Amino acid sequence: MKFTSVLALSLASVAYADFSVLFKTQAGDFTVEVHEDWAPIGAARFKQLIEDKFFDNSAFFRYVPNFVVQWGIAAEPSVNNKYGNITDDPINPKVSNIAGTMAYAMDEDPNTRTTQVYVNFANNSRLDPKGFTPFAMVTSGLDVLQNKVYSGYGQDPDQDKIYAEGEAYLKREFPLLTHITSATFVHPNC
Ligand SMILES: *[C@@H]1O[C@H](CO)[C@@H](O)[C@H](O)[C@H]1NC(C)=O
Ligand SMILES: *[C@@H]1O[C@H](CO)[C@@H](O)[C@H](O)[C@H]1NC(C)=O
Repeated sequence: MKFTSVLALSLASVAYADFSVLFKTQAGDFTVEVHEDWAPIGAARFKQLIEDKFFDNSAFFRYVPNFVVQWGIAAEPSVNNKYGNITDDPINPKVSNIAGTMAYAMDEDPNTRTTQVYVNFANNSRLDPKGFTPFAMVTSGLDVLQNKVYSGYGQDPDQDKIYAEGEAYLKREFPLLTHITSATFVHPNC
């Protein structure tokens, strides 16, 4: 009996390696639940980014109504250089880019995921076969992303300029952008 419960516990810890992250932003808070089994490589990179406080003080620089909100270029340009591209996760038929799911932005070419992520506002399942495999799901505060994050600049902020100049560029030309204050692991027992 005792042996069985120990075994069950260790199996459970392998099967449920999910973790949650609380994003505090200037517009309110939201929480995402990361599913390592959906996209293990993407999930591992995300864990590293949270440990490194990568997202702190960075901006939601792309907002496309009824499509996505996107972020994940570091506030300080030199920080981005520490993160190389990650290998693509396999397309996972069990997950789809439905509203509230989160995946990495990338180029058309393989293995071009880095640190930029987006959250889907609608059923964007047409992205699934292109390899945008979701690794997380918003579990609270989707309304903050959809309706409270500043959306007025749309897709105007130039990503190359954000990489080159960071906050200096955004503060100068897009002063109203919403920023992330912190992104931290949610520990279930505290
Ligand atoms: C890494 O990804 C970026 C886009 O996310 C791309 O511009 C760049 O060419 C990629 N680098 C390599 C070595 O594939
Ligand atoms: C999303 O759209 C696809 C394609 O139209 C459809 O097959 C799927 O059932 C939709 N999923 C949800 C959750 O609405």
